[in-house]
Amino acid sequence: MASFVHKAVSSADTTCQTEATSCNKTWWKNSTVYQIYPSSFKDSSGDGIGDIPGIISCLDYIASLGVDIIWLCPMYDSPHVDNGYDVADYENIYAPYGTLADMVAFIDGCHDRGMRIIIDLVVNHTSDQHEWFKESRSSVDHPKRAWYIWKPARYTKNGHRKPPNNWRSYFGGSAWQWDEHTQEYYLHLFAPEQPDLNWENEQTRNEVYKSAMEFWLYKGVDGFRIDTVNLYSKTPGLPDAPVVDASSDWQSAVAYHCNGPRMHEYLQEMNAKVLSRFDCMTVGELPSTPDQAKVLQYVSAKEKQLNMVFQFDVVDLGQGRDQKYDTDPLSWTLPDLKAALLRSQGLISGTDGWTTAFLENHDQARSISRFASDDEEYRERSGKMLAIMLAALSGTLFIYQGQEIGMINMPKDWDIDEYKDVESSNYFRSVSERTHGDQGALSRALTAVQHLARDHARLPMQWDESPNAGFTTGTPWMRTHDAYKHINVKSALADKSSLLHFWKNLLSLRKGYADLLIYGDFEIYDMENVNVFTFAKATGSRIALIALNFSADFQTWSKPEDIEGHLDLLVSNVPSSKTSMLAPWEGRLYYVK
Ligand code: GLC
Repeated sequence: MASFVHKAVSSADTTCQTEATSCNKTWWKNSTVYQIYPSSFKDSSGDGIGDIPGIISCLDYIASLGVDIIWLCPMYDSPHVDNGYDVADYENIYAPYGTLADMVAFIDGCHDRGMRIIIDLVVNHTSDQHEWFKESRSSVDHPKRAWYIWKPARYTKNGHRKPPNNWRSYFGGSAWQWDEHTQEYYLHLFAPEQPDLNWENEQTRNEVYKSAMEFWLYKGVDGFRIDTVNLYSKTPGLPDAPVVDASSDWQSAVAYHCNGPRMHEYLQEMNAKVLSRFDCMTVGELPSTPDQAKVLQYVSAKEKQLNMVFQFDVVDLGQGRDQKYDTDPLSWTLPDLKAALLRSQGLISGTDGWTTAFLENHDQARSISRFASDDEEYRERSGKMLAIMLAALSGTLFIYQGQEIGMINMPKDWDIDEYKDVESSNYFRSVSERTHGDQGALSRALTAVQHLARDHARLPMQWDESPNAGFTTGTPWMRTHDAYKHINVKSALADKSSLLHFWKNLLSLRKGYADLLIYGDFEIYDMENVNVFTFAKATGSRIALIALNFSADFQTWSKPEDIEGHLDLLVSNVPSSKTSMLAPWEGRLYYVK
């Protein structure tokens, strides 16, 4: 194959033959993963909160999509300050979701249908209601005191008490909480109700392995999505972070709590002591790590740590640098997106690492609203264009509930009270306090939240046109999207030309051309083009060519000169289009013969 300008050539993969169908790779590489957010998927009890029996009732639907693995977000017993990412007991189920027996039935139900199941492993922190923390905070002499990160106060010259350093929590404010009872602060990188575990303590690590991991592996889960996997090791001494935001006492301290000095040692230990004993997969959440060499350390097969990670290069596009919401909508360009994809696709370039492809999850606003068009005229078409892009990217593919039917962000005329998430509501409140209710500042904050909030992904799943979209017979914990009467699973299933059927076809095509689409080398042809994205996936002499129009206008397009041979159109989202012109939001996937 001729040389191209922007190229990410994958490692020579030993088992892949030139025949498209004869790829026989590790199961977690070939797989498509479907992510479920239990609160918002399907409520069987009528209490307005999704539950495990509800999910079980939809397993045939999920299997019919052609996905191989389900990732279930936290279902553990929890006070739900952060919707389950604050775990009070790793070995029990959040009562509104069901029971341990329900969970076992769910695991079996996945396996019975030939699917695997991974669960969230949230072990950077626990809930402050976890027994471990209750004991730790009971006295400075308690043996579990060292299981969390406790420090004495600092004092100003005037004798005012101050936290041990200036770190800002991810949810705003200081990352330290004062404990009246024992007169010390504890560290919480997220909400005050989410104290950080002290990974330096070997006993803590061993108990995490036992309670949060082995317990579930013995129950049959096939692996973990590992929450905030690079935060466990903090810089020794917990130094102050440099002041970037002079208007605040609290500063981003990513450099001091992300990818710390003992991170790889911990993950190697976790792998050796637990993961290597099971046929399981791991995908780590890897925020704030733009350096590919650092990413590779986590996923290189020889390092024996994680199978793959979620990089943030794509989903961080258009977000504020220091503060996520300090931005305006759509402040990214198509070349930015291409460069971001080149980085994550390039991770497998000549290496023994593996990568992921995704645009959505429970922490991201809807991809059609962020990267394409949620105007009804182009919603489905642009959703199909994004689906073509995703299905053609190398790595394990992840799709999020509702993405398959083209769910979109909340309507803009909804009130801020409809946003329930601790991150968006804290942010809005902090702007209000800081600016004393300045209308301009509040309006900009609302616009950013309307574009980027995590809440958008957490609206109830839209099943049909009945009240509350068939999600619940009760009052849903989050309001159902106004558009559910035309955006729902039932109508998508009935319409053979829907985005849902398009996804099903793409997922099966991806398997059929696995050597190109899942494992191929990624090459971009038009890096600077702000409207059109043309890339190839290649293995040896076999090539797939992808052309995507990221605009609502017609765009001229031609086959890259380097590509010889006839273009055989495998998929397109616009019927009978002319080769030399891409219609608004058109996407095409060719096989080069
Ligand atoms: C991860 C989760 C997010 C959660 C945070 C704290 O980023 O995906 O939902 O709020 O960790 O656990």
